[in-house]
Amino acid sequence: MEKLIDIRGVRHTFRTRTGPLPVLDGLEVAVDEGGFTAVVGPSGCGKSTLTRLIAGLLIPDEGEVRVHGERITGPRANVGMAFQNPVLLEWRTILRNVLLPLEIVPTKLPKRDQEARARRLLSLVGLEGFEDRRPSELSGGMRQRASLCRALIHQPEVLILDEPFGALDAFTREDLWQTMHEVKRNEPFTGVLITHDLREAIFLADRVVVLSGRPARTQYVLDVPDTGPRDLDHLYTPEATEMLNILRHQIEIAEGRAAEEPATAHPAPPPGAAARGMH
Ligand SMILES: Nc1ncnc2c1ncn2[C@@H]1O[C@H](COP(=O)(O)OP(=O)(O)OP(=O)(O)O)[C@@H](O)[C@H]1O
Ligand SMILES: [Mg+2]
Repeated sequence: MEKLIDIRGVRHTFRTRTGPLPVLDGLEVAVDEGGFTAVVGPSGCGKSTLTRLIAGLLIPDEGEVRVHGERITGPRANVGMAFQNPVLLEWRTILRNVLLPLEIVPTKLPKRDQEARARRLLSLVGLEGFEDRRPSELSGGMRQRASLCRALIHQPEVLILDEPFGALDAFTREDLWQTMHEVKRNEPFTGVLITHDLREAIFLADRVVVLSGRPARTQYVLDVPDTGPRDLDHLYTPEATEMLNILRHQIEIAEGRAAEEPATAHPAPPPGAAARGMH
């Protein structure tokens, strides 16, 4: 399968008022076309910086970021982004909020099809009937659903989700996980999900990348086996528990709470799961 996103040997240092801050050092992330990669790592290690690299909003000091084999040299329009805070515009209806990117990003979609697409996306995430409401009339979970539609409206090549469910309560979050699967079935995309929630990572993604503490390098990569349509019960299987244990241990290493061991010393990956340390 073609690597849609290919990040190799990336190093980057921010020049701050208090001196240089090395933030990425040895970042390697490959995402297949149609793949969904979750990125986890300690707070402040450089996860959001990684999303800015993919969107072309940041050019690294060293290394390469390629999308479709093409080296990224500036901001890219063909990326959809959703964040923890959905930042919808209160003076626009939900429908007009979803349509906003099409007013900014060049689109091949004829005008008459734009609204139909926005309505279809809203219906896909369960917001049919809320098209003419204002953001403040919606719950947090509903606002996040609308923000997802806005990120997808221009059929982006890459969908970047930076802790999109982080501010939601556990039940709403799990509902949205299921919505995400539904969306991916109907609107295929290549996705990168930043999250602090390991269950979310293995429920949604087909690969989980663990970043080390700052400066972040790719510390560990876990491939999540494809076991067909996922439901929440999958999170309670022995295979899922094993994967969560591996990831939890890797996070402890990344946070400096556990010593790094040779890759072979890790518990055996669950059957079918390919886990590999990157040292
Ligand atoms: N433009 C910038 N200039 C200077 N420093 C920056 C800039 N952007 C980010 N940083 C610093 O780089 C580090 C990594 O930031 P980043 O936002 O990528 O972390 P993160 O992993 O997303 O954190 P969190 O989990 O808290 O969201 C932080 O120390 C941050 O203060
Ligand atoms: Mg962040």
